[in-house]
Amino acid sequence: MTAPGRILRIAGLVPAVLAARALAAHASQAGTRYPLDTLAPKSDITRWFTSIFWNVTIWDSIVLVVVAVAMFLAIFVFSSRTGEPGAHSTKESDVYLEFAWTIIPSLILVAITVPTVRAIIATQPDRWPADTLQVRVVAHQWWWEFNYPTLGVETADEFHIPANRQIHFEMVSKDVIHSFFMPAIGGKRDVVPGQENQITLVADVPGEYYGQCTEFCGDSHANMRFRVFVDTPEDFDKWVKHQLEAPDKPPANSSAAAGAKIFANAPCAICHAIKGVSGFSKEYTFGFRGPDLTHFGSRGTMAGSMYDNTPENVANWIKNPDKMKPGANMPTLGLEGHEVNDLVAYLESLK
Ligand code: CUA
Repeated sequence: MTAPGRILRIAGLVPAVLAARALAAHASQAGTRYPLDTLAPKSDITRWFTSIFWNVTIWDSIVLVVVAVAMFLAIFVFSSRTGEPGAHSTKESDVYLEFAWTIIPSLILVAITVPTVRAIIATQPDRWPADTLQVRVVAHQWWWEFNYPTLGVETADEFHIPANRQIHFEMVSKDVIHSFFMPAIGGKRDVVPGQENQITLVADVPGEYYGQCTEFCGDSHANMRFRVFVDTPEDFDKWVKHQLEAPDKPPANSSAAAGAKIFANAPCAICHAIKGVSGFSKEYTFGFRGPDLTHFGSRGTMAGSMYDNTPENVANWIKNPDKMKPGANMPTLGLEGHEVNDLVAYLESLK
């Protein structure tokens, strides 16, 4: 082999070595380093998806090997070189061979189609068990609103569901097309204005899981994340009970109390609701609204779940939302130093 040929052959091995290393790392990390891992299922439907993935991958691999071997034989074994007599056959057709290459691919397609269609139907049933929990997912540029119509709970960026109970998600968008993607728990569904999409699932492993909008929806599409907490039934009931309570009144300290006044007098209350303090009509103000902040202090993340909920991040957000989430509808309020600190103290006190 020539030197350039050898270099090309070695270069060709590089992607394979990298892929093998990535797979090994994947296996050893058990999904922890890859929060959007699609192969670490934690619900009934993601287990089906994973099994469909492996089903398709295995069939595809078999087809690849068969085609590659046939091609190799045709090129290197059953072919003639320059000067050699050409290969010839007296056969015009082989009926058994033609049956085989018609029927086998058809059977492979059936083996792929049946579980796929079964999963599609099972995730969008016409009716569901009586104790199914309804969760309404409302997509906004660029954050997620979560409503529980039967519980009276509303939250944003982070939401909770009980393990081992059927959950029925209804998904609507208030502006453009988004896509609701939480790989460990449940599929991926487009969230389309003027249409209600749905997905039904049972999550079965308590934990904290990541989600992300996966349809390009404007400036901060990549900043439109969320978290889902799968709780034990007892923890979920506790969470719901807490969500239904108004936050402590009056605020715990003087800075937070001053912040409460700023919240009421600045434009904050026009777009943000705090139970027992301000409420928005369910209609829009100026064409949009912001997340419900009733229990803001108890959330781990903020601003489309992009940032940890720390006093420093909240202060930076209030001072210049556009810098942290480009295109954000939240205006710059022009608050001065101590006003920002007081407002942050108030918001963080909303446990
Ligand atoms: Cu919402 Cu991308």
